Amino acid sequence: MDLFSPCTLGPVSLKNRFLKAATFEGRSPRGEVTDELISFHRVIAQGGVAMTTVAYLAVSSEGRTDRHCIELNDAARDGLTRLTKTVHAEGVAVAAQMGHAGPVGNARSNGAKSLAPSSGVSVMGARLHEASLQDLDRIVHDFSSAATRAMDCGFDSVEIHVGHNYLLSSFLSPKLNRRKDHYGGSLENRARLARDVLGAVRTAVGKNLAVTAKLNMDDGVAGGFGVTEATAVAKMFEDDGNLDALELTGGSSLANPMYLFRGEAPRAEFAKTLPQPIRAGFKVVGKHFMPAYPFEEAYFLNQARVVAKEVSLPLVLLGGVTRPETARVAMEEGFSFVALGRPLLMEPGIINRWASGDEAPSECTHCNKCMPTIYSGTHCVLNGGPMVGAS
Ligand SMILES: Cc1cc2nc3c(=O)[nH]c(=O)nc-3n(C[C@H](O)[C@H](O)[C@H](O)COP(=O)(O)O)c2cc1C
Repeated sequence: MDLFSPCTLGPVSLKNRFLKAATFEGRSPRGEVTDELISFHRVIAQGGVAMTTVAYLAVSSEGRTDRHCIELNDAARDGLTRLTKTVHAEGVAVAAQMGHAGPVGNARSNGAKSLAPSSGVSVMGARLHEASLQDLDRIVHDFSSAATRAMDCGFDSVEIHVGHNYLLSSFLSPKLNRRKDHYGGSLENRARLARDVLGAVRTAVGKNLAVTAKLNMDDGVAGGFGVTEATAVAKMFEDDGNLDALELTGGSSLANPMYLFRGEAPRAEFAKTLPQPIRAGFKVVGKHFMPAYPFEEAYFLNQARVVAKEVSLPLVLLGGVTRPETARVAMEEGFSFVALGRPLLMEPGIINRWASGDEAPSECTHCNKCMPTIYSGTHCVLNGGPMVGAS
């Protein structure tokens, strides 16, 4: 299959099979859309991907990761509209990754409780508060309103975050979700919130936008959500008929972030982003929270194959794709798209380079030192990444 010929994602025309994966840009102080954020996506768009993804857009102020996260509200409307127009001018589509951070949210920074399926304390010592049924109704409604706003701002696609133990993903986890009501217990119950949200989002945008979800296949946490249950949830999503594609991921921003990335664990750099009292505690829990995992090309492919066997929904392969040959193999196996994060931070023009016939792999070393830069302007520490050549 030709990776570089036009195709469609639901109602959206794409020029090739390569998508920019969500990488929180860190260019929105106090949640404002800045020229730097727009430049970031212009540079990515000029580099050859078919669709870029703005990340991460919260559906409400309590759903932000922290107060520097953009909320999909009226205040962001003009800035996001400028952003989508800028990307469209490059002939590229643009997705909004939408979500509610739930237990991953920084309560102190947000000035709001970190909501979770069940109360408790996170590995990093944050207090988690059980979401009430009223909270859940409100959150479903917030997703629907945010999707309408994303449509008004000119986005082509909305990607609902059902991964990394953000709120919807935390409900799927048997470890984090110990509820006794109809949102807890059986897999059907744990999947209810995500399914309600996807239904509400589809109703809000109709067939005007592509709707996708980023779903965990494995939290990488003992007693957490795993690939067998993920496959069943993918089938539920498929049966509900609300999705145009499903992106497959894994790991937990709450309890095991390195499972998501593989490669070196940038513990020292991460510790520097923490406030002093937590920094001291991190010296003790850091190895626990951030164990290193060896990097392998397409490290989620084996789990993604398990899901692919059972569903016919278009699938996006993500995680450690650094060569066009890997993408070609994925297409031959039935995946529809490939998403890249770190290779595009390092070399925004990598897709143009591959399309021109230079198929040398990404030079990303998976040092993962880009990770802690989300607090100061996300970039590749080896070469500056998307800000090189930005105007
Ligand atoms: C700096 C950085 C920020 C990220 N931010 C997000 C995010 O906001 N939302 C999300 O779903 N994933 C986020 N990710 C994860 C990526 O989408 C992707 O799953 C991961 O980087 C693996 O893909 P890769 O091997 O192509 O980099 C981030 C990754 C990086 C490196």
